[in-house]
Amino acid sequence: MDDDRAWGWSCADLVEISRGRDTPFYAHDLDGMKHAAKALVASFSGASHLVAYAVKANSSGTVLRTLFEAGTGADVVSGSEMELALRCGARPSDVVFSGVGKTDAEIDAAIGAGVASIHVESIEEIARVAARANALGTRANVSVRVNPSLAKEAIATHAHVATGHDEAKFGVLADDMPHAFASLRRHREWVVPVGVSAHVGSQLTELEPYLASTRAIVPIALEFRRQFASTMGMIDTGGGFGIDYGKGCILQPSDFVRAVRPLLESAGLGDLRHAIEPGRCLVGSFVVLVSRVLQTKTSPSRPELRWLLVDAGMNDLLRPALYQANHRVAAIAGGSGALVPWRVVGPVCESSDDFGLHELPAEAPSLVCFRDAGAYGFTMASRYNGRALPGEVFVSGGIVVGDVRREPCETWVSDRLRA
Ligand code: LLP
Repeated sequence: MDDDRAWGWSCADLVEISRGRDTPFYAHDLDGMKHAAKALVASFSGASHLVAYAVKANSSGTVLRTLFEAGTGADVVSGSEMELALRCGARPSDVVFSGVGKTDAEIDAAIGAGVASIHVESIEEIARVAARANALGTRANVSVRVNPSLAKEAIATHAHVATGHDEAKFGVLADDMPHAFASLRRHREWVVPVGVSAHVGSQLTELEPYLASTRAIVPIALEFRRQFASTMGMIDTGGGFGIDYGKGCILQPSDFVRAVRPLLESAGLGDLRHAIEPGRCLVGSFVVLVSRVLQTKTSPSRPELRWLLVDAGMNDLLRPALYQANHRVAAIAGGSGALVPWRVVGPVCESSDDFGLHELPAEAPSLVCFRDAGAYGFTMASRYNGRALPGEVFVSGGIVVGDVRREPCETWVSDRLRA
């Protein structure tokens, strides 16, 4: 049994929480999240800022309320995320709304709420937002998300989460910005040009892509300010700060802020409200996915094949199947003997329902957890294979302060019967 408090949990506590509780479930350390959010907010050392937490990473209401109380705002990518963030206490003036394809209803809701910025991602979207503002008889705060057009190789992360290269669907290419400026001028009656934003990619473990992205948008921000001096108030350098999934990440989220501030200050943009959009780094490391071992599977003729069949599947934690991500597995209860490699797999009928090889006791444990599962874990969960959505437990000060049980399997059956 691994009794390592270094990763934030004691095995005894997790065993206690799992008693009488259906697995799998996500266990959240709210204090860790609060601490991380406060540290990131503090890293601006008095400079005007907006730490817009990317709600897509983990949208549990308890998590949102915790982060907003710690001083963050929200980066949302749908009308539902926006409504949730506002209902959890985010101030509209601390909310930015990104996304390449917004519906009219979402644009209307963002205008109605008076969010700090609708981040438009195309020239066409400027006209769409202006038309909706016109229809509502008001003006909309608009920033242009710029695609910094870095070379794909310069964005050292998984291809699925690299966004700042010129073949990505995101943002307006730097070369196209004169057209965006012209459109903003044309629609000035209905749009308030408030700034520029960029987001180069996710799970960055080096500063350079983030700095390169910011360097690429600085001249655009200067031109934006020249043209719209009276309304420009924000520069958003995006999120993407990586965490340590086991391969090492020596950077803290605040290192990105401290590295990028001088770029803005030396360009004369230091007085603008500096927004960032961190998701993963505020939640990822503070959550484990707890899962029971259903059985082992071995092969008498091929003793090197050794599977640990757990009750969490790719529907509960998709990242390994989708991005070949590795989430360290720790034994929480049971298990003895020397550590041997087990291939940890779930019950879903796909070969990609495979969490990889992990060193675990030869006498298999009965309860395990997947570490660093707080970002893009529950939010990407599905009911694939007729499986229930996992449970969620929220812990603060050593006490369970929030508890959502795993769905009963009948939920799926009755849903499908209606279809
Ligand atoms: N801002 C924008 C415009 C984004 O597209 C994203 C993430 C973020 C902020 C937050 O990035 P973060 O700080 O969390 O890295 N499902 C994938 C990650 C997808 C990221 C999508 N965009 C994963 O599990 O790794």
